[in-house]
Amino acid sequence: MEKRLQIGILGLGVVGTGVVEILAKEGQKIKEKTGVELVITKALIRPGEDKVDFAKQHSLQLVYDIKDITEDASIDVMVEVMGKIHPAKEFVLAALTTGKHVVTANKDLLAQHGTELVQTAVKNHVSLYYEASVAGGIPILRTLANSFIADEITEVLGIINGTTNYMLTQMVEQGMSYEDALAKAQELGFAESDPTNDVDGIDAAYKTVILTRFAYGTDIAIDDFVVRGIRGIGIEDIELAKTQGYEVKLIGMTKKVGTGVFAEVAPALVPVHHPLASIRNEFNGVFIRSTGIGQSMYFGPGAGSLPTATSVVTDLAVIAENQGDNKPAPQFVDYRSEKIFADPKDVFSAYFVAMELTDDPQIWQEIKEAATGFAIAYRELENQVTAAGKRRIVVMTEPCSEVQRHQFVSAVEKIEDTKITQIMKVMEE
Ligand code: HSE
Repeated sequence: MEKRLQIGILGLGVVGTGVVEILAKEGQKIKEKTGVELVITKALIRPGEDKVDFAKQHSLQLVYDIKDITEDASIDVMVEVMGKIHPAKEFVLAALTTGKHVVTANKDLLAQHGTELVQTAVKNHVSLYYEASVAGGIPILRTLANSFIADEITEVLGIINGTTNYMLTQMVEQGMSYEDALAKAQELGFAESDPTNDVDGIDAAYKTVILTRFAYGTDIAIDDFVVRGIRGIGIEDIELAKTQGYEVKLIGMTKKVGTGVFAEVAPALVPVHHPLASIRNEFNGVFIRSTGIGQSMYFGPGAGSLPTATSVVTDLAVIAENQGDNKPAPQFVDYRSEKIFADPKDVFSAYFVAMELTDDPQIWQEIKEAATGFAIAYRELENQVTAAGKRRIVVMTEPCSEVQRHQFVSAVEKIEDTKITQIMKVMEE
């Protein structure tokens, strides 16, 4: 017998309208494959939003009170594409509690309250899917959840923020200033409404939290790891890295070291021949090392109406497929809330370190002694006096542990009038 799932959607913005349009276009194909017809019947919008024509065209009832969706027994699935934490969290909890499946694109919500939401979904025997929350149009979460079942992931490196990748590409290729590159990214609509989350790495950190759950089944929180964005990044460091054969990229990293997890979001030097170096402008790329497949990379648009909406509709199609088979509502992935972190002395990386100091050979001597004292080998990339009369020294270290790096940084920062202006991990080929 033919089934029908009725959907209520929260938000008819860029992604919401895309979801309605894609379902109108692909709904028949989904119905043929799953035996389930997906129909969006209601859309929640804010009073004053002019969506009357769009609603008429797609036979949607516009509503202004969430209860018209969460308390409507005829609605089986709720799609949340309004963003932000509040009131999205309360709305999603209300839907799950009243037995509705939920599809959302909200990475902030999943990263911060995922465990509570997943537990509520499990308790109420409904599915909670959020493929669009990480890397927009790249089907990375379902790939991690389903296609690595016979493999063991050891490292995930992601260019997962389109805004900052666009900015870095424009800075290096067009010589654009940081400010101009940000203004252009905002104009093109890649940035969050408050671009702080983009440029300070917070958006990438939310996605790294979610990727860690999917890669290792381990939960972590954004406060558990270092998050550094590209705010104020100097073009001189980007250009120097380029002369050494590296592209500077904002990388969300999560790796397994022993039985623990090490995560970080920070700008890093990516060798020009590494597949991630080829990810330009607003595109995203997720590079995975695993013991079985070895290396694989997933590339695509990380934002935008159609790519993000396509991921949302795919989640809807999976819910339809589960219904068609009369299966109990499955969850996206299982993860433990117990946190096991890698021991910092076991986490190794080479570093690019740019320093600014008083132009006094004695100070440079002290820094060199600190490096030797902590057994850090390095080579000098630059050593010159700046226009301001300071000495700028840039070194590239051999791999050293997080502990050694921390000791060295603390020692250098104690030296008068000396500061580390940039420190970036150097990725392996
Ligand atoms: N501001 C985000 C980005 C949008 O630039 O990637 C997609 O999450």
